[in-house]
Amino acid sequence: MLKLLAVLALVSASMAHRYIGASWKQSYKPRTPYVYKSVTWDEAHEYEDCPEEDFQNDNYEEQEEGVGKDNIKAENGMHHFLSRHNPKLIEDICINKLVNVTIDGTRSELSVPVCPDIVREESEHCGFETVIIPAGKWIVIDIERSADGEFQIRNSYKQVYYDYRKPNSVRFMVPVILLWHLENGEKVRGEIATYIPEEHQSNPPPSKSDKVRVEDWDETKVYLRPYGGHREDKQFEDQYELLRKALTRANLSYKDNVELEAGYTYLRYGRQRIEAMLLAN
Ligand SMILES: *[C@@H]1O[C@H](CO)[C@@H](O)[C@H](O)[C@H]1NC(C)=O
Ligand SMILES: *[C@@H]1O[C@H](CO)[C@@H](O)[C@H](O)[C@H]1NC(C)=O
Repeated sequence: MLKLLAVLALVSASMAHRYIGASWKQSYKPRTPYVYKSVTWDEAHEYEDCPEEDFQNDNYEEQEEGVGKDNIKAENGMHHFLSRHNPKLIEDICINKLVNVTIDGTRSELSVPVCPDIVREESEHCGFETVIIPAGKWIVIDIERSADGEFQIRNSYKQVYYDYRKPNSVRFMVPVILLWHLENGEKVRGEIATYIPEEHQSNPPPSKSDKVRVEDWDETKVYLRPYGGHREDKQFEDQYELLRKALTRANLSYKDNVELEAGYTYLRYGRQRIEAMLLAN
């Protein structure tokens, strides 16, 4: 059964802020108060997990919001979960939002989706969800590397804003996708991609930057496991391993030289959602 997730839009989410755990200065105050909502693991995804022990999700306990492993509280009282938790629900992320949009120089207040029209299929197999990302235009940038080879995700992410979104008044959409190209399991190249909002899809402003580009993507099928926490968590990395296992078990093939991370949430408060994704072959 196909479930069409209403389009959606959202919070200024960003995978670009590196999570540095409880030491993160939590001074940021969101405009609207963050409301705590309890979520179960089963509500957060559209599949049954596989019976093997390593798929069982009971090896961590959801901590009180804003309280970390060492009982450290968020300084701004707004919290994010400082340890692994159940992911924020897609239906709470992919909402419509009232924003001012500028199209061809004309500004108007519109209710617009925060996410592209992604279709989520209920999975007949255990351990993963199947998702169809619609064909469309994306803003893409190569992730810079520093002299020592570190990927400078945050810098590149900011560049998308300053070189493309800001000068062209193109609003933000989620997810932010990090697309990693692998060689022998190592990340050798990374790109950041965000969907161009509906109001600009048919006629996106051309990029004047030599770094940011507009790309046409075909409809794409991905397999995924959602995660509540932060991309640096070892347990997030483990989701790719579980995903590969589940796909192998379901006899489905995937591209083994690409990994995607989809980020949906603002990292400085609230429940998080990131998704470990692999591309269908
Ligand atoms: C849109 O812009 C108008 C005029 O600046 C402002 O009053 C209004 O609050 C804005 N709406 C949103 C949703 O930001
Ligand atoms: C996967 O393929 C094997 C070998 O052909 C078969 O025994 C098994 O039933 C298949 N599993 C699924 C889920 O189709």
